[in-house]
Amino acid sequence: MVDFDNVVSRRGTYSTQWDYVKDRFGEADLLPFTISDMDFKSPAGVSEVIKTVANRGIFGYTRWNNPEFKEAIRNWYRSQYDTDVDSDAIVYSPSVIFSLAKLVEQFSKENGLVLTLTPCYDAFISTITSNSRRLFQYRIDKGVDFEKLEQTFVNEKPEIFLLCNPHNPLGIVWTENDMQKFVDLCNAYHVSIISDEIHLDILREGVKGNSLAKFFKELTVPAAVITSASKSFNTPALGCSYALIPDERERLDFLYTLKAKNALSSVPYLGMLSTIECYNHQENWLQELCSYIDGNFVYVSKFLKKRLDIEYKIPDATYLAWIDISDLNVEMKDLQLELVTKQKVAIMDGRIYGNGGKNHLRLNLGAPRKKVADGLERLAKAVESLRDKKNSNS
Ligand SMILES: Cc1ncc(COP(=O)(O)O)c(C=O)c1O
Repeated sequence: MVDFDNVVSRRGTYSTQWDYVKDRFGEADLLPFTISDMDFKSPAGVSEVIKTVANRGIFGYTRWNNPEFKEAIRNWYRSQYDTDVDSDAIVYSPSVIFSLAKLVEQFSKENGLVLTLTPCYDAFISTITSNSRRLFQYRIDKGVDFEKLEQTFVNEKPEIFLLCNPHNPLGIVWTENDMQKFVDLCNAYHVSIISDEIHLDILREGVKGNSLAKFFKELTVPAAVITSASKSFNTPALGCSYALIPDERERLDFLYTLKAKNALSSVPYLGMLSTIECYNHQENWLQELCSYIDGNFVYVSKFLKKRLDIEYKIPDATYLAWIDISDLNVEMKDLQLELVTKQKVAIMDGRIYGNGGKNHLRLNLGAPRKKVADGLERLAKAVESLRDKKNSNS
């Protein structure tokens, strides 16, 4: 059994979440529940692989286009998602958002429209708009209405549909039926589709994820899955992601951009080896992680009900809790001030995730329960203190 309760200090590791929390929240030394990486150690097998490499001391340029890397990915899709991936479709990319930036340029014209479902991962917003594309935010905070979505395809004429599968921050797992509808819409209205599947492995018990790769054969428009093992196994610092691009011409264009235009032909060795190790040998670790995170969600749900009378619905995926604070009758501005300056805790304000993010907090639960409990306690104290102030003023 992996001891996910074990608290490991991340301070002093140049950690974006811990050591640089001031950049986003204006104060240092806050207890952070922010950027989505986890406070757990990666699987021991990853450290073993790194130790072996370190002992050998060879760190030269490395070829990603090798059978072990591609087979590991194919095995993963076969075992986890019952999907056959053509090994030719697999291409390395330094990061998922790098793939997004390049595919947005490849699949659309300058000033073209990208449609995504919001609230959404904040980097979607910045990547699309800073790459000279327009963004259409289709709100799904009150659920997805496929008829209205179709109308949006008709009226707005997007060039790309960008899907977060599963959805960050709402934690929605798209069912096979949902995926079929997205695919049908894209085919019918000639809209390219990109599916970001970096959160696909973090599922609640009994929930099944559905990759767009399963629908590649049906798609008549440019399509890509962009993903990485780095979210599931907590290895973003090692560097390595990949894309699945079924169409040969689109794939060659992507490779031209990667290798010729950006001179990125060599993969970070440790990132690639870690992907191979995790996909080939760390399925059990992932299962244990998911059940620990399930426990964190149950804890959050009970706590919110008991202390703040919030009815919180546990999502089907991700380790991110999306908490509606509308019924608390506190202003987000006041709450954030109280959280940061008095309670010394950093919890994301939902508004950074675009339309539909108002009155929500995003709390990262990829952490030992003790930290989660501490964060929630601070949140409850902040709310109680604001209420006390309100009562004493009235
Ligand atoms: C939906 C989504 N895509 C991509 C990323 C980041 O991936 P990368 O660091 O490989 O660009 C994240 C990280 O939080 C994410 O939530």
